[in-house]
Amino acid sequence: MECTIKQFIADAKSIMKKGEGVEQQMAIGERMKVLAKRDDLDRLGKRIGAGDGCTDAWVLHMEPDKSAVLCLAQFDPGYCSQAHNHGVWVVACGYRGTDTWKMYERLDDGSRPGYADLRGIGEVHLGPGSVSLIPDAPFDVHSHNNLGSRDSWEFVFLGREPDMTKRMLFDPVTKKAWRSDFRGVSGALEKMNLKSFAGK
Ligand SMILES: [Fe+2]
Repeated sequence: MECTIKQFIADAKSIMKKGEGVEQQMAIGERMKVLAKRDDLDRLGKRIGAGDGCTDAWVLHMEPDKSAVLCLAQFDPGYCSQAHNHGVWVVACGYRGTDTWKMYERLDDGSRPGYADLRGIGEVHLGPGSVSLIPDAPFDVHSHNNLGSRDSWEFVFLGREPDMTKRMLFDPVTKKAWRSDFRGVSGALEKMNLKSFAGK
């Protein structure tokens, strides 16, 4: 049976009531794989445009208290984002094409303004229907890279949107770090005078 966004969100909320560890995150990922079989999700979301880590995005769901956030992010061919953090755990599922995550561990304590020491810890190749987790800090720093010749798309689910004023961008080579001006799904919705969105 085809999964709806509404059903996915109900399942994810029910899973999170039992906890928010890796076991629960993977269970949410299994539901995302089912939802990813639909090919019409971009038409069910509200377009919020480019963020600081993608070339376009749609919100599929966000509760008024900024919890249960489901987005669809798109990456143009050749697009490589700045490394950034999320500050919270994230479950992602590939939808179209392949997004390559370059993953980093932050080695410094963040106390020196404008500075971050990052160590590369590997790559994740997220193709259609494959699920991966972004853990909490300090292992949450990553970049999105579309190395293919067609668009890549992925779903992102967050239990709740973090404080977006703490979002950072990084240059792993020069070790520079600076605050992002991206204000997330809630910021994009606020510009449209919306506090929430519920995809069907
Ligand atoms: Fe990201």
